[in-house]
Amino acid sequence: MAKRVGILTGGGDAPGLNAVIRGITYPLIQNNYEVLGFHLGWKGVLENDYETLTIKKVFDIHRAGGTILGSSRTNVYKRENGVAIVKKNYKKLNLDALIAVGGDDTLGVAYKLSTEGLNVIGVPKTIDNDVNATDYTFGFDTAINRVMEMMDWLHTTTKAHRRVMVVEVMGRTAGWITLHGGIAGGAHFILIPEEPFDVDELAGKIKKAYKQNGYAVIAVAEGADDPKLRAHILHSAEKDEFGHSQLWSGIGIGKVLAKELRDRTGLETRAVVLGHLQRGGSPSAFDRVLGTRFGVKAAQLVLKEKYGYMVSLSGASIKNVSLKEAASNVRHVTKERYTTAKIFFG
Ligand code: F6P
Repeated sequence: MAKRVGILTGGGDAPGLNAVIRGITYPLIQNNYEVLGFHLGWKGVLENDYETLTIKKVFDIHRAGGTILGSSRTNVYKRENGVAIVKKNYKKLNLDALIAVGGDDTLGVAYKLSTEGLNVIGVPKTIDNDVNATDYTFGFDTAINRVMEMMDWLHTTTKAHRRVMVVEVMGRTAGWITLHGGIAGGAHFILIPEEPFDVDELAGKIKKAYKQNGYAVIAVAEGADDPKLRAHILHSAEKDEFGHSQLWSGIGIGKVLAKELRDRTGLETRAVVLGHLQRGGSPSAFDRVLGTRFGVKAAQLVLKEKYGYMVSLSGASIKNVSLKEAASNVRHVTKERYTTAKIFFG
């Protein structure tokens, strides 16, 4: 009987997911494995909902965004008998291994299941770029290019109207997209979750910058924090199965900050929430290639029967690290990186 491997894509989608699926499927089929693609992340594993992948199904998917398998934020550990059901289905389908492509939540579940005796491999995915033990996740490069482009557009209209524009960027706990998108897109100020700010102090700096430049563009991560404003924002947000505040469901920092800055500076201020535009559309060349390399590496680990690992990018090389290390932390923006960005504030 052919060996069988399952793949799932979980959490928020990220451009490059299809490149990973293709990267996994080719080498495994070439080595006589059967590849099952579970639908909608862990939900598909819990409900035994899958399709058999073929070369015909995946041969050109790496150029498209989203994921052909679909995704969800299902948490196995929040479902009644979740772990037992996953184990039962894994056995019933005669799986030799499961490859989980996801961010810290999906990989956290993958790690815990690997300690339950399942053969699991992780692939780091997220536009947020905050997975531990890898230099980059795929999806991030596409997202920062989107942010850069939209910020370029926002500069012209903001300057034309001599306004202040607050641009809200994705990133609940890590500010990587805001930092890179903000630097590339020429934001006059960049606010990230790792570096709490004070709105009164910021208002003063914006007045000064406005005087000098005639307008101001501020990139703010959705999780950026002035404790005075934060309570109000979180209070209005719902939580997902992993306990994260769904910031879209409340009044986001972008709108709140725009109003607070207008009140303090007297300048005409607008807010734009870039939202899911940052995640949609086709992947950049970098993400297509990184996704492909990650997928192939994950397949190679299966062929060598090396389980309990996450594939990772270290410098220019694809390596593997333990799932435990990968799932142990979120990777935050360092002080040093923020200090470099601050040189250009104003
Ligand atoms: O996990 C990536 C991410 O894009 C975060 O930056 C953002 O906060 C979140 O997903 C949005 O999630 P959803 O798609 O569930 O609204």
